[in-house]
Amino acid sequence: MGTDMLVKLYDLAPDPALDKRMADQGITLRRALVPERTAICDWIRPRFGAGWADEATAAIMRQPVTCWIAHEGETLLGFACHEATMKGFFGPTGVDESARGKGIGHALLLRNLLDMRDQGYGYAVIGGAGPVDFYQRSVGAIPIEGSSPGIYRGMLPTASPSGMSE
Ligand SMILES: CC(C)(COP(=O)(O)OP(=O)(O)OC[C@H]1O[C@@H](n2cnc3c(N)ncnc32)[C@H](O)[C@@H]1OP(=O)(O)O)[C@@H](O)C(=O)NCCC(=O)NCCS
Repeated sequence: MGTDMLVKLYDLAPDPALDKRMADQGITLRRALVPERTAICDWIRPRFGAGWADEATAAIMRQPVTCWIAHEGETLLGFACHEATMKGFFGPTGVDESARGKGIGHALLLRNLLDMRDQGYGYAVIGGAGPVDFYQRSVGAIPIEGSSPGIYRGMLPTASPSGMSE
């Protein structure tokens, strides 16, 4: 389990260039719909494991839904959640291996964090961050000392398929 990280939400702003990058690639980012829960979890499970599908379920069952998806037509490319395991936490997030490096992970992260700010948070915690550099580079996140395994201490194991960068 990676370290937790802290993000200053009050320092973030929408990024029109990133939005344009998504639009130019024909990629839509939006809040998930409750009737998409099965499709989203069936997509997450083989790529990132049952635990992340469970966390996405929690985010999709909330109102407003706190799971965001990126898709191209009917093809799901990635997802990101907040308010899943803990209040004020971002994650999990994942992008299909074939769609990485196009800015989707960054765009989903920023959209979620702006949603958290709109819901009244001043800071977000990235729970058990795997790719620390990705979070540092994308939104200026800083590691929280001594935070691993943090809230996940003693958690029962679930199958973790390859594709996770931890
Ligand atoms: C982490 C992840 C969501 C990033 O998605 P992505 O769509 O490939 O990321 P982006 O294209 O938006 O990358 C944004 C920037 O972060 C960098 N970056 C992406 N993944 C990175 C990684 N694993 N480590 C370090 N830097 C990374 C990119 O190079 C890019 O930098 P740039 O703006 O200078 O070009 C994706 O790699 C993934 O699904 N990983 C497996 C699941 C995972 O680890 N999730 C996070 C768990 S906390």
